[in-house]
Amino acid sequence: MAALISKLLFLVTLTLLGLNYNANAEIRGKTQRKINRANRYGPFLGIVTQSNFQKNLLLEHPSFTSYNETIEFAGRVFTFGGISGERVVVVVSGSSLINTGITTQLLLSLFRIKGVIHYGLAGSVDPSLHIGDVTIPQFWSHSGLWVWQRFLDGPQNKLPLEDSGDFSRKLGYLKFADYAVYVLEGLDRPDARLDNSLNNIWFQEERVYPFNSTLEERERIFWVPVNATYYEIANDLESLDSELLEKCVNPTNCLATTPEVSRVPTGTSASIYVDNAAFGVFLNDKFNVGPVDMDSAAVALACHQQKKPFIIIKAISDLVGRGSVEDANSFGSLAAKNSVTVTVEFVKLLQEFNVSRPGVFSL
Ligand SMILES: *[C@@H]1O[C@H](CO)[C@@H](O)[C@H](O)[C@H]1NC(C)=O
Ligand SMILES: *[C@@H]1O[C@H](CO)[C@@H](O)[C@H](O)[C@H]1NC(C)=O
Ligand SMILES: *[C@@H]1O[C@H](CO)[C@@H](O)[C@H](O)[C@H]1NC(C)=O
Ligand SMILES: *[C@@H]1O[C@H](CO)[C@@H](O)[C@H](O)[C@H]1NC(C)=O
Repeated sequence: MAALISKLLFLVTLTLLGLNYNANAEIRGKTQRKINRANRYGPFLGIVTQSNFQKNLLLEHPSFTSYNETIEFAGRVFTFGGISGERVVVVVSGSSLINTGITTQLLLSLFRIKGVIHYGLAGSVDPSLHIGDVTIPQFWSHSGLWVWQRFLDGPQNKLPLEDSGDFSRKLGYLKFADYAVYVLEGLDRPDARLDNSLNNIWFQEERVYPFNSTLEERERIFWVPVNATYYEIANDLESLDSELLEKCVNPTNCLATTPEVSRVPTGTSASIYVDNAAFGVFLNDKFNVGPVDMDSAAVALACHQQKKPFIIIKAISDLVGRGSVEDANSFGSLAAKNSVTVTVEFVKLLQEFNVSRPGVFSL
């Protein structure tokens, strides 16, 4: 009897607390009701962009239908609309891995999402790619998680916390001494052989806690695959009519090459803006990377952990320490437009692949 009474009291207290919380916390009140109403129209395709400029290019695209419905939460604006009948929710992540990871997780936690498309700009460290080209990598990695090795230690020495399994030497390293200009230019100077006190940085896998895996059991991943079906569908984008992609910002200022869409093996991200050609060559040699940016790996890792299909469509807007700064500046908005064009075409292909319920709604 006493047990029953205390259980009842517990339930009553929980209910009262819940009501109280409902009255005070925005997410539980009006916003939560709006989110619930929106989700009745889902699942949506989630679209994550880098900036307001890029978002507006999509919202102004002739194939985009605005539902005139947005939900604001945690400093983000989630905008609802349709692309050729597919219901989408669009959100700006801002740049950096942290902002992008937070935004993607919010998108996946708040809304019923069937898959995620991330589009925007990247640099290229692959010399065969040009400004204005649009790339779709099959794998993404976060290459900014490092162990910075102490001076005089080398590949034969264990890393800190290697024994406990926190870090490993399997992905390899970058040795600062290899980048002394005298070494690179092959000049025979004894002092060029001197070591560099910055020594080596060792690349590490990300730590992930996938949904539906053993709780709180850490897993590791470096190369996160995009959804195989999405990647297969994206094959058709490689033969996209080149007329659809922009080549000129005005009649006298055109790209030297006609932009192309290509699926590429890998892209990589870190919260580092790389404008250094030597590091670019390193990334391309070591990891066979094409596009390099500051956000895609966060989308990849969030979707991977939540087991949501995703794909990333990045237009090349600079050549990472190669090429002219003027080109990067004058063709940035053209590249952004090309990433939007390819994103819209991808949604159309997805739509052909699987007919979903189209249509406007209001909340
Ligand atoms: C959204 O608002 C614009 C401008 O007021 C209007 O032209 C359009 O029809 C509206 N769309 C929907 C789906 O309500
Ligand atoms: C998660 O696990 C549950 C129970 O085993 C299963 O029904 C569900 O399909 C799983 N979800 C995903 C996305 O794997
Ligand atoms: C890839 O996406 C498709 C379409 O949503 C889905 O059916 C499939 O399960 C996904 N594959 C993986 C490995 O998540
Ligand atoms: C097609 O749509 C259905 C219903 O929304 C979904 O269950 C299924 O996973 C989709 N398949 C693909 C390949 O997208």
